[in-house]
Amino acid sequence: MNATLDLDRAMHTAKEAAQAAAEASLRYWKTGLQIERKADNSPVTQGDKAAEAAILDVIRRDFPEHSILAEESGRDDKDSPYRWIIDPIDGTRGFTRGGQFWGALVGLEGPGGILAGAMALPALGDLYWAARGLGCFHNGERVQINQDPGSIAEATLSLGELSYLLRAPWQAPVLELIQEAELARCYGDLKGPALLLSGMADAWLEAGVQPWDLGPIPILIEEAGGVCTAFSGQATIHDQTALAAPKALHALLLARLQNQA
Ligand code: IPD
Ligand code: CA
Repeated sequence: MNATLDLDRAMHTAKEAAQAAAEASLRYWKTGLQIERKADNSPVTQGDKAAEAAILDVIRRDFPEHSILAEESGRDDKDSPYRWIIDPIDGTRGFTRGGQFWGALVGLEGPGGILAGAMALPALGDLYWAARGLGCFHNGERVQINQDPGSIAEATLSLGELSYLLRAPWQAPVLELIQEAELARCYGDLKGPALLLSGMADAWLEAGVQPWDLGPIPILIEEAGGVCTAFSGQATIHDQTALAAPKALHALLLARLQNQA
């Protein structure tokens, strides 16, 4: 069991793994891929499998003692406080249709939450990475999310999967927020938090997601100056929801979601 961790090394491993996934999946993009259906009827392709294999190669080379939870190949449990959370292609549906908003999510979970991670949007040439206390970066430039807009009325919201966000118990507060906000955008998948990280939105709301759909997002947002929790307010990727924003706006949105305001 390895209780100490070099965060800088973990961040660079996450970055290299996301880059390797990007290269692997791009080889299959727009190639008329065959789509298989998983047990839950969601799609998977050779692109997803090749990208996951590329990520696993990098992580097992650098941290063979760590556990893994990967969307396509499942769990590999070790006696370790650290676990890599992997989605080789978040946005497989868009990937199969030649869209641009898809890519790899690689996060390292440890004591106290997500410690390091990376996110790649290969079709856009975007790569984000971060680690606790070391900052968040986009293609080599330090990332800082927007200043707090001060009110919901002045905020642009980035919304994720509407079929979950517009379902009880979130439907009423989410509809209210959409109407009150300055703008509400709905790009979905990993492009949702990317809008916040790139300054094109002030907050991101997502629901109906698995841990691997969120892996590195909390550490990217936190290191860019924001707050990222579940709709419960807990800092976890295991609650199927995510709310990210600058601190004051996050508190306003959380209160609405919890029907406290
Ligand atoms: C999907 C995305 C999407 C969510 C779906 C997931 P995938 O992930 O995260 O936002 O609404 O439920 O299946 O399958 O493209 O990795
Ligand atoms: Ca996926």
